[in-house]
Amino acid sequence: MSPQPRCDRTAAWAALAGHFEAHGRGLDLREAFARDPGRFDALSLQAPEVFADLSKNLLDAATLRFLLDLARECGLETRRDALLAGEPVNTTEGRAVLHTALRAPRGMAAPTPAINAEVHSVLDAMLHYAETVRDTARSGITDVVNIGIGGSDLGPRMAVLALDAFVQPGLRLHFVSNVDGHDLARVLRGLDARRTLFIVASKTFTTQETMANAHAARAWFDAEGGTDRAAHFVGVTTNLQAAAQFGITRTFGFWDWVGGRYSMWSAIGLPIAIAIGAANFRALLDGAHAMDRHFATAPLERNLPVLLGLLDVWYRNFHRCASRSVAPYHQGLERLPAYLQQLEMESNGKGVDLAGEPLPYGTSPVVWGEPGTNGQHAYFQMLHQGTDVIPVEFIAVRTPTHTLAGQHAKLLANCLAQGQALMQGKSADEALRERAPTASATLAPEVLARHRTFPGNRPSTTLLLEALSPRALGALVAMYEHRVFTSGALWGVNSFDQWGVELGKALCTALLPRLESGDAQGLDGSTAGLLHRLRAGSAPT
Ligand code: F6P
Repeated sequence: MSPQPRCDRTAAWAALAGHFEAHGRGLDLREAFARDPGRFDALSLQAPEVFADLSKNLLDAATLRFLLDLARECGLETRRDALLAGEPVNTTEGRAVLHTALRAPRGMAAPTPAINAEVHSVLDAMLHYAETVRDTARSGITDVVNIGIGGSDLGPRMAVLALDAFVQPGLRLHFVSNVDGHDLARVLRGLDARRTLFIVASKTFTTQETMANAHAARAWFDAEGGTDRAAHFVGVTTNLQAAAQFGITRTFGFWDWVGGRYSMWSAIGLPIAIAIGAANFRALLDGAHAMDRHFATAPLERNLPVLLGLLDVWYRNFHRCASRSVAPYHQGLERLPAYLQQLEMESNGKGVDLAGEPLPYGTSPVVWGEPGTNGQHAYFQMLHQGTDVIPVEFIAVRTPTHTLAGQHAKLLANCLAQGQALMQGKSADEALRERAPTASATLAPEVLARHRTFPGNRPSTTLLLEALSPRALGALVAMYEHRVFTSGALWGVNSFDQWGVELGKALCTALLPRLESGDAQGLDGSTAGLLHRLRAGSAPT
């Protein structure tokens, strides 16, 4: 693939900057809706399983036109096609990036028949094994502990919670990621070694945290009188040799073209498959594949991941928004913000372009959030009245799986109300006309009204799912993956490496023996001081 222009070196970028100064900065959502009764219809779309209302974003038809020009000038379609064809788009590691191949239906020729056959052979074996574990009467397994971190934890953990309604009763799934022994110790408490299956999930099988937990789990298993380790430890890795050295005989492999944060569709999804079963796991893959097709074929102006990625660029580089808040109005999506933190920030948190040149503009925003109603009673204050404008992404699900009367309507009303409040705001006059619920005896009414004013015109996107089914979750997550690809492609970064995690790992390896020995020679003053304080018994009084 020939190099594509970087976003800031295009004519569309300059045009967008002019448009932002002339119209974008001053766009008022309330006026835009008043002027155009068709705004909702024009700026909402149905993608596979995901309906998106983009109409409460700070854009108009011209903004969209300029953003689409930018995408075309940056060669987004060429870059997308190169990704899907298996070209080595991860240039710093010389690798293809083919998570889409993991959910391609059996027999699909792309990217190659051989890859498709390999993927389905591992998938079949993994799902067959998952079904044998689920047959608890025969397997004797009641508790499954996934040991992994980052991409080997966040996807399965998020999905098992999200699909709780589909989890086989009587099976408990646990996730251990932290090298902090409190994590594993808490999970092991109350487990019966004879009824526990450990999945050691690590692409590299070298990650310190995972290896430490795997060794500790194995020691616990032996100490608890566990027998037949081979039946109680299973590996998921590309490093089959290291898994064998650890003593694992049953291993499900995957490939170096699967990035850790894009791996929940591979054998890394084993805990999901055990939890929800083979048919549901296949539905998860089908949903993701439907979104892949949408991303590959829908025109850019009706392509949901593309539009979301373009909005990310618009907010980050023109409105200068440093963060985006994700507010799922479904308890099952509790871990989605954490999952997205790795997906988005590890992918696009980069400071140089593909040629290694420092970037003169911002890349990944900080992505953060909590289930919506909980956030409302914590940080939404800042979203409504703080000094920073933070685009919010609401996710709502129309049909719940519980039958508790009245609660779902309340949840949905909360979701709608927050988007409405962010946009609508409340003027000082309106605040003055209202009677404050707790009127201050000391403040003049005008002063109090200013505290009770909401600026409004704060942007949000609302994503709607019909139900939180495996298929819908698959489509939703694939949508996020392609959105990250889109913004990363425009920013001209390599969204598929993660060199930024390496330095800390190396320094940790060097510090570990110093914690034992107390040797602080050559360390900076702060690290040396902290090391001395942390060494048992050596803290100064
Ligand atoms: O944090 C860096 C990272 O390499 C992630 O990209 C990855 O998902 C995680 O560590 C876990 O790696 P592994 O699956 O090799 O244990």
